[in-house]
Amino acid sequence: MLMTGGLCTGVCAPRLTSPDGRIAVETDINSNGHPVYSVTFDGKPVFKDSALGLKADEADFTIVTTATPGEITTHDSEWNPVWGEFATIRDHYNEMPLELTTPDGKKLTVRFRVYDDGMAFRYEIPEQGSVNYLTLRDETSEFNLADDLTLYCIPGDYDTDERLYIQTPMSELGENMNLPRHTESSLIPGLAVQTPLLAKRNDGNLYINIHEAALKGYPAMALDADPADLSFKSHLTPDRNGVRAYLQAPFTTPWRSVIISEDAPGILASQLILNLNEPSAIEDISWIKPMKFVGVWWEMFIGKNRTWAYSDKYNAKPGITDYSALPSNGRHPANTENVKRYIDFAAANGIDGVLVEGWNEGWEDWGGWRKNRQFLFDKAYPDFDVEEIQKYAAEKGVKMIMHHETAANAADYERQLDRAFQFMNDHNYPAVKTGYVGHVIPRSEYHSSQWMVDHYNHVAQCAADYKIMVDSHEAVRPTGMIRTYPNWIAQESARGGEYEAFGGNPPEHTVMLPFTRLKGGPMDYTPGLFEMNLPAYGEGSESKGLTTLARQLALYVTMASPLQMACDLPENYERFPDAFQFIRDVPLDWADSKWLEAEPGDYITVARRDKNSNDWYVAGVTDENSRTAVIDFSFLEPGKKYTATIYEDAPNADFRTNPQAYSIRNIKVDAKSKIKQHVAPGGGFAIRVKPN
Ligand code: NOJ
Ligand code: CA
Repeated sequence: MLMTGGLCTGVCAPRLTSPDGRIAVETDINSNGHPVYSVTFDGKPVFKDSALGLKADEADFTIVTTATPGEITTHDSEWNPVWGEFATIRDHYNEMPLELTTPDGKKLTVRFRVYDDGMAFRYEIPEQGSVNYLTLRDETSEFNLADDLTLYCIPGDYDTDERLYIQTPMSELGENMNLPRHTESSLIPGLAVQTPLLAKRNDGNLYINIHEAALKGYPAMALDADPADLSFKSHLTPDRNGVRAYLQAPFTTPWRSVIISEDAPGILASQLILNLNEPSAIEDISWIKPMKFVGVWWEMFIGKNRTWAYSDKYNAKPGITDYSALPSNGRHPANTENVKRYIDFAAANGIDGVLVEGWNEGWEDWGGWRKNRQFLFDKAYPDFDVEEIQKYAAEKGVKMIMHHETAANAADYERQLDRAFQFMNDHNYPAVKTGYVGHVIPRSEYHSSQWMVDHYNHVAQCAADYKIMVDSHEAVRPTGMIRTYPNWIAQESARGGEYEAFGGNPPEHTVMLPFTRLKGGPMDYTPGLFEMNLPAYGEGSESKGLTTLARQLALYVTMASPLQMACDLPENYERFPDAFQFIRDVPLDWADSKWLEAEPGDYITVARRDKNSNDWYVAGVTDENSRTAVIDFSFLEPGKKYTATIYEDAPNADFRTNPQAYSIRNIKVDAKSKIKQHVAPGGGFAIRVKPN
């Protein structure tokens, strides 16, 4: 369908609306010559006039003489993600290009799309005759709030997203920004926040999520904040010379995305960011398979005095040292015998895979972060028998997950990439967990810079060539690129479950993540913590897990991911086999998802239908307060009878004092059922609903 763009003379004020007409975007040139846009929802302002623009050494697109709207077109289609929260996603929007001309005749297109669940825009730099290489100094996209919204966000940081969320009125942002300053050097100067950011209007009738989609060839965007003016401005990660990006025209920037909803469940249901990404670049997707896994991992976090390194010789250098001549430190769990124990556990419990960290040469000095910081990705330690493990895992029907910690030496990783992936193919590893701990060397890039963004995308693409799935840790926050590279099956890029060993994750954290970080893509959060009393392991564990056991089960559903770890030790699962049954059963891929109740940082109740059966799963989490969830089963097929197996907090459960108290019961439900479900402080519940 084609509509006529608004024709105007003089100052243009074209209007683009969502298919349902509730969201409207207007564009204009303001009195300073800046192109601007504004957004309304149900007639009420969301963003006041907000500037658009790019500034390069070679061209200044922040001041323009004309802003001409092109044709408005409508797009309406459906697509089927390889895996995810829905079997089918509708992609329905109205689109309008806005053609800008600068006083010296340079051209820039701003492309707007308006969906029923939000709006987005991106910059398209056409070829400009002789000036086709641009040294980008700034992007001046603004998001000027019309009201003093309550924000849920983390501080702006070039290197890390591993922080707790703050909740504050925009007008008080600076005062409420208490920072755990563990990576001080990469904090963005001034007052800045990271996206995805959630904001809520006090009347409770407007929720927005600001982020970006399809980040490639460009640095990630944070937002400079001006609380007095209620305004945000894009802040691109620079390189160490202050250049934001080196671009070659024609070039298209990532989308700046704004999910807009009248309620909190609408934010969780939105597929805007995936819709803004390009379809799969991988034709044969038959090898991409969701995975549940256990791993040689948690042992190194709790006070068991275990190390990733094989030896205590801190001058051991990968490729130079003859490791077989070094004595093992005797505290190295990535050894053949221990790995076989995990394989046995996985096989006995229907868990797809086993991850092993600390299997390869180079860990002796990685914690020092100064000297070696180099790993070999095709050289196992002497006590890790790759061939033997390959054979054993195959016999048991278990898949192995490779670990590539790079210690942020991304340049060296790129040099080894083909050899590393060939090594994985040769030894039957279908997935890799990558890691970028520490400051990026030797290029001194930030984790969210253009060069690093290119690196992560290159790794995903190269992995696809080798039919390998990727789970990246410490990489830049995701922007829906999983649609284009569905083998990029999960990311960390937030404060994950590992922090239960470093001070704990307050319950509200996992009630924030689905509204923020998870809008960019699924997370390898590593749920499944059954033993919260970490100090009992001995020295090294600073804190207790801030969660009940039943809540850990709920996280598999409230934070859906096609790659899910069961993080705890096999011996802890063997103590609670009836609760572990839920982890064995829970699907990783969903046909449908319905959020029954939600409020950021307070609670979430979601129902999801398994893609491979007619089972539904319902789960809920709360913050530090207990609550009663209301579950309306009207999503079930009318007339059909189901059995619901409820894994719940016991009446006396509390994440602080009694986290392991749970019970399991069966009830009969149908589409007319409506039940009340107790949730303990820091607790949760998980329900499997099976047709009779
Ligand atoms: C940080 C990752 O998040 C964690 O999962 C991993 O075990 C360590 N880095 C070591 O690579
Ligand atoms: Ca991490």
